[in-house]
Amino acid sequence: MSPIDETTANNTHEVAQAVTPTARIVYVDYDPLVQAHARTLLTSGPDGATDFVHADVRDVDRVLAEAARTLDLDRPVAVILSGILAHLPTAEEARDVTRRPRSAPTSTVSSSSSPAWST
Ligand SMILES: C[S@@+](CC[C@H](N)C(=O)[O-])C[C@H]1O[C@@H](n2cnc3c(N)ncnc32)[C@H](O)[C@@H]1O
Repeated sequence: MSPIDETTANNTHEVAQAVTPTARIVYVDYDPLVQAHARTLLTSGPDGATDFVHADVRDVDRVLAEAARTLDLDRPVAVILSGILAHLPTAEEARDVTRRPRSAPTSTVSSSSSPAWST
């Protein structure tokens, strides 16, 4: 689950679908500007799918319900938390965000930020 950064050369779905054309990717962000960019940037390859969920990642029930439009959550998923954990005030909130989307066995999570509460 990662918002879009238009300053980078390739977004997550472009990288994933270059390797696996059938890859299905869902982005999540609560910023309306990111949502507006998503409409123009999220162009999936013909064999895969992309979607954008405009929500707070801490609203895990909503995120999972909307992600299920695109993802089969009974199968393993990779959760990418790029630059997001530092925005979550407590470890308890982060625990829910990182664990519940990974209910299927062999799911993975990666994060690229160090929140203040982790030190
Ligand atoms: C540092 S930027 C990361 C941008 C991009 N993922 C990257 O790695 O370059 C943080 C993003 O997280 C979003 N964000 C922060 N807190 C959030 C929350 N609770 N729910 C959803 N999105 C959030 C912000 O709107 C912003 O787009």
